[in-house]
Amino acid sequence: MDIQGKTVLVTGASRGIGCAIALELAQQGVERLLLVARDRQRLAEVAAQVEALGVKVTVLALDLTQPVLVNMAIARVWRDRGPIHLLVNCAGVANQTPFLQSKLPKVHQEMTINLMGMYNITHAVARRMAKQRQGTIVNVSSLMGKVAAPTMATYSATKFAILGFTQALRCELAANNVQVMALLPSLTDTDMVRDLKLFRWVIPMSTQQVAQVLIAGLRKESPEILVGWQSHLAVLFNRIAPWLMEKFLLLASPLSKDRQKRYQKYV
Ligand SMILES: NC(=O)c1ccc[n+]([C@@H]2O[C@H](COP(=O)([O-])OP(=O)(O)OC[C@H]3O[C@@H](n4cnc5c(N)ncnc54)[C@H](OP(=O)(O)O)[C@@H]3O)[C@@H](O)[C@H]2O)c1
Repeated sequence: MDIQGKTVLVTGASRGIGCAIALELAQQGVERLLLVARDRQRLAEVAAQVEALGVKVTVLALDLTQPVLVNMAIARVWRDRGPIHLLVNCAGVANQTPFLQSKLPKVHQEMTINLMGMYNITHAVARRMAKQRQGTIVNVSSLMGKVAAPTMATYSATKFAILGFTQALRCELAANNVQVMALLPSLTDTDMVRDLKLFRWVIPMSTQQVAQVLIAGLRKESPEILVGWQSHLAVLFNRIAPWLMEKFLLLASPLSKDRQKRYQKYV
């Protein structure tokens, strides 16, 4: 995809990977950015940086889990600012907890934001893209959408689901000339991971690196864009020797030694 002169909507643009993607797209010559997240103040700060790069910007302070508000906002922005050429679905949350200690409200929040939030905005945008027979959608999954890990069961479930959602939409919307792809970052240094107990031996990437890999993937029109050599290695390893990968994940995981021993009996 050639992003020059295009209108792009980025969700999760108030910080982290979404913010870096918005700034990278601005540097690469998009014409207009629509920035979505809940925190209006942070969005305004990102918008100021985008404007300084000479790109038109619109802030949409939205909770993506509210379908009526999302539909109204997309209808209004499409009417007032013209068609969206690229949608980057980056908003998401991650909770880390051993499964047996997980609490329903947190699980529900993770599923609602990561899956229903993505559904709500994708539905509102994709049907308009399909009508005009033009558009690209990028859904941000994760390496954990390919290789699930202890303590991240429900997060991994949402990220696996995003890959399924993406594959199905890619097949369905191809007939309407709408491309659908997935971005799979590995551990990236953002607010999201600041409170997590990290997995051993995983080297975090910067948000700028993730944004640059996305731009390269968009140019190549790759259906699944893996970020970094660690992800390529993990996916390959998981395909060739999944049982060995599970042992490795256990050693790398932040579970206590005692729990690891008990778990090891089953793998
Ligand atoms: N960081 C990593 O290691 C990593 C690795 C793989 C994949 N990812 C994925 O990359 C994406 C971005 O993660 P990140 O690390 O940049 O996280 P982050 O720094 O915590 O940012 C999350 C973004 O999502 C927005 N958001 C959350 N809930 C929302 C809601 N209900 N409505 C609208 N916006 C909402 C937040 O904005 P507000 O709070 O202002 O609403 C924020 O802009 C996520 O999908 C994540 O799963 C991250």
